[in-house]
Amino acid sequence: MHTEHSGPVSTRRGFMKAAGAAGASLYLAGGLTAKGGAGAQAKLEALAMNGGPKAVQAAAGSATKWPLYGDEEIAAVSELLRSPDYTPIAPFEEAWKAYHGCAYAKAHCNGTSALTSMLFALDLPPGSEILVCNYSTWFPVVPMRFFDLVPVFVDANPKTMNICIEDCKRRLTSRTRAIMPVHWYGLPCDMPEIDAFAKEHGLDVIEDASHAHGARINDVIIGNWGRISGFSLQGTKPLPSIEGGIAMYKNRTDYERAVTYGNYDLPNSFPEDSAYRKYQGTAFGSKLRMHPVSAILARMQLAKLDAMNAAGCAQVRRLNDRITQLPGLSEPYARPESKRVYYSKNLLFIDEKEAGMSRANAVKALQAEGVDVLEYSWKLLHTYPLLSESQWWRHMPVLPAADSIPGCDEANKKAIQVAYFTSDQPELVEQYTKAFEKVWAHRESIGTA
Ligand SMILES: Cc1ncc(COP(=O)(O)O)c(C=O)c1O
Repeated sequence: MHTEHSGPVSTRRGFMKAAGAAGASLYLAGGLTAKGGAGAQAKLEALAMNGGPKAVQAAAGSATKWPLYGDEEIAAVSELLRSPDYTPIAPFEEAWKAYHGCAYAKAHCNGTSALTSMLFALDLPPGSEILVCNYSTWFPVVPMRFFDLVPVFVDANPKTMNICIEDCKRRLTSRTRAIMPVHWYGLPCDMPEIDAFAKEHGLDVIEDASHAHGARINDVIIGNWGRISGFSLQGTKPLPSIEGGIAMYKNRTDYERAVTYGNYDLPNSFPEDSAYRKYQGTAFGSKLRMHPVSAILARMQLAKLDAMNAAGCAQVRRLNDRITQLPGLSEPYARPESKRVYYSKNLLFIDEKEAGMSRANAVKALQAEGVDVLEYSWKLLHTYPLLSESQWWRHMPVLPAADSIPGCDEANKKAIQVAYFTSDQPELVEQYTKAFEKVWAHRESIGTA
């Protein structure tokens, strides 16, 4: 669903939009002001790229430091080294289940192995199609070839960069069996609509929640919407264990099948009547156990997850609430009933027409002011050679026509990535705000050339 951004329009934003190009003359050292006129123009500060002072003077220091491990983690890992064994894994899985209120969870050596086990658990017939977002990563998609599954590449909603439900409807066939939402950079997908669509067509929802640990919609924690979900815990993720992953399951058969895929030593732990007990000793050819150091870090970080998410979100709100009032600068649309989180970057959109300058020029000017910002353009999944070479697939992926993914194309034309501050940074946020306002005040001269 392409949901329009319908948030309240503030007076300041209204003023800036109304001011149009004239708004460019309103930047003063103290920030944007409604008082225009020749006097204000005279005080317009020169851009750093033209020899003016940089708006960002504060050192970035540890503002984007991640992961945040401290003495507590160091002590716990040191303790493991004194008596090395696998005992930290089970307490992490228990803590995970308690946090999410879920019945079954299995920790893995990384997110890819958690997601691969999840695909095996589905036990789908060969040739089954799974709707995946083209604006996404290969990790849960390429392993589909091991199980004769077929990824079908769906367009993204340009307002969210998440899977577009309208396009899912267009790509649905009699072979479609599942849909795999990925909550891009911490922004929850439209799960209520995805859920309704899946129910209507008898599809399974399987979540790749690798960017959205602790995010919610209507108090349903991300990962709990689907039949199964998988998470990466790799070191850049909202819950970082350097390298690790976990999958969670609602029903016992899914759990036992998935666990048996990559754990030769666990089938004996299933109840006597389990169909998978007999595979004790061999599994199905993979060994995907979590490293105990990763389990220690993951358990300790999970205890701090909500606080860490809150700290980062507060910095983003402080910055975005102000800079998204500038014409043509917006953030991905978050449903009011959702509680999003952030993964590694603060993604924003520049609408070149509304901003009156090109994204490339705006980014150059912001960089000169000292802002940690880049143009953001994601390599679309379907463009990787592996996806179109028949020797790797028993059932070929369904690739989109080049002109059928306007949402992905639009996101790639508009997106920028700004540093995500993981701790309280009032000075930096203030200076970043000043940098954006200054660049926007000069937008007419920055232009598109
Ligand atoms: C969306 C997404 N899914 C899955 C993965 C795979 O996780 P891992 O790197 O832990 O194997 C990643 C890793 O970056 C990811 O970004």
